[in-house]
Amino acid sequence: MHIEPITELDQIVSLLAANGLPVSDISHDYCPLFFGIQSDSCIKAVIGLELFGSVGLIRSLAVSKACRGQSFGRHLVDFAEYYAAEHGIEILFLLTTTATVFFHQLGYEQVERSDVPRDIRTTSQFSSLCPASSAVLCKRVVG
Ligand SMILES: CC(C)(COP(=O)(O)OP(=O)(O)OC[C@H]1O[C@@H](n2cnc3c(N)ncnc32)[C@H](O)[C@@H]1OP(=O)(O)O)[C@@H](O)C(=O)NCCC(=O)NCCS
Repeated sequence: MHIEPITELDQIVSLLAANGLPVSDISHDYCPLFFGIQSDSCIKAVIGLELFGSVGLIRSLAVSKACRGQSFGRHLVDFAEYYAAEHGIEILFLLTTTATVFFHQLGYEQVERSDVPRDIRTTSQFSSLCPASSAVLCKRVVG
C-alpha cells in the first residue's frame, strides 16, 4: 500500500465533503499536511495532520466508499502516527462523531476537552467545525 503526500486540494475537498467531513478551513492559504492513497491519479483515501511542537491533530480521515474495509484507514492512521513521531510529536489528538470505535481499536482513548492543550483547542476543527458532541480522543505516539 503506497501512502504519499497529497496536494490536489480540489480532490481532497471532494472526498472529504462526500464523506460529510468539514472542509471550510482548507485553502491554499491554510492547508494541513495531507497524505493519501491514489490510483490512476484519483485519491482513494486521505488523512490530514496539523502539528504544534509536541502535540498534533489528526483530522480529515476519509476512505472512498468503494475502498472501505481494505485497511486503508488503519494504514493511514499508522502512517500519520509514524510521521508525527518522526517530527517530534508526542501525543496526537482527534475529534470524531462517526469513528470512535475505529480509533479505540487503534489505541486512542477518550479525554476531557479541558485536558486538551491550547494549540489543539484553538484549531478551527476543535473550536468551530466539529460539533460539541464530538468525542475527543488521544494517543501517545512516542515513549
Ligand atoms: C472510518 C473509515 C476511515 C475507516 O476506513 P476503512 O479503510 O474502511 O477502515 P479499515 O479497513 O482500516 O478498518 C479497520 C478496522 O476498523 C473497523 N471499522 C472501520 N470503520 C469503522 C467505523 N466507522 N466504526 C467502527 N469500526 C470501524 C473495521 O471493521 C476494521 O476492523 P477489523 O480489523 O476488526 O476488521 C471510513 O469508514 C470512512 O472514511 N468513514 C467516513 C469518514 C469518517 O467517519 N472519518 C473519520 C472521522 S475522523
